[in-house]
Amino acid sequence: MRSISMTDMTHGVDEPQNDSIADAAELIDLTAGVIKIQVLHALAALHVADHLDGGPRTAAQVAADEGSHPRATYRLMRAAAGLGVLNYEGDGRFGLTGRGRLLRTGVPGSMRSFVLVQAGRSHWQPWGLFPDAVRQGVSQSRAALGADTFEYFSKPENAGEAALFAEAMADLSGLVTQGAVAAVDTTGVSTVVDVGGADGQFVLALLAGDPALRGQVLDLPHAAERAGKEAARRGLSDRFSGVAGDFFTEVPAADLYLLKTVLHDWDDEQCANILRNCRAAVHDGGRAVIVETIVGEIGKPDFATLSDMGMLAVTNGMERDLDEFDALFASSGWRRDKTYPVGGGYFGIEIIPG
Ligand SMILES: C[S@@+](CC[C@H](N)C(=O)[O-])C[C@H]1O[C@@H](n2cnc3c(N)ncnc32)[C@H](O)[C@@H]1O
Repeated sequence: MRSISMTDMTHGVDEPQNDSIADAAELIDLTAGVIKIQVLHALAALHVADHLDGGPRTAAQVAADEGSHPRATYRLMRAAAGLGVLNYEGDGRFGLTGRGRLLRTGVPGSMRSFVLVQAGRSHWQPWGLFPDAVRQGVSQSRAALGADTFEYFSKPENAGEAALFAEAMADLSGLVTQGAVAAVDTTGVSTVVDVGGADGQFVLALLAGDPALRGQVLDLPHAAERAGKEAARRGLSDRFSGVAGDFFTEVPAADLYLLKTVLHDWDDEQCANILRNCRAAVHDGGRAVIVETIVGEIGKPDFATLSDMGMLAVTNGMERDLDEFDALFASSGWRRDKTYPVGGGYFGIEIIPG
């Protein structure tokens, strides 16, 4: 009896279609994305990179320290070696590659919290309903979690996940904050408000570079409190305060507003609302700096369009192209003045009243 090949299944017996087989293999590879993120998830959750920080070790040693299943831990580490996250030493031991080192806890540039958030409950559950998000044009966070994402993070029972999210934002911020801080001119600026500034990475870096500057983070209570603690840790409390508030209601007056990866969380009407509140409170001669990724040419590989899918899945926001940003600014009393790259695929977009 003749066995059935993939060619038979897709195109009928004796009709090899090499192009289709290659296409199918590529689709299988794309589908493996779901496996890759869960490999990273388990590595991060089981602190594998931390266990290997002192040098290469066997899976059995890692499993013993972590209290995990030895054979399953070996299989996980073998898969991670295939992804270039671990290095197989050839003697039963695994070490860290550059990628693997970024999964250690609390090191500069760590991506561990980011991985845990992306694959964790707050994000993974809404992704499970993604086709419905496309059908209805809204995130399924409420259906999956019983609350919109930021409301979910505000609940006391989700404080651990909220802290992880804030940490992930801060770690990601580190990748672009340096470039953004270098690009923002604070000449003539006295007061700066980081709107939805989380733990204040952006504004605190500006304050550190300009002793004349006073700053605030406006964010939800749990985040504003973290910002205050971060300012104290950096010795900047005398020129900084964390303000608990709602940017849809009002924002404190300032010469300069920072909105870093905030607008992409919201739909056009909500963004216009935030921007109108900034416009109403901005001092004469003031401006706002928005830091976001910008959707480029359709059909080219583009991080922004993938990030846009994440926004649809988890928030009710979106990534935008420049025309869409300009329309937002026009609808809220602003106009675009300057646009420049700040690194990591992100851009600074400076707007002034107009
Ligand atoms: C994607 S994070 C960006 C954080 C920070 N700007 C950064 O780039 O790391 C969005 C922030 O908006 C805050 N946020 C959400 N809803 C808010 C509201 N209604 N008023 C004030 N802040 C809010 C969240 O708590 C979170 O810190």
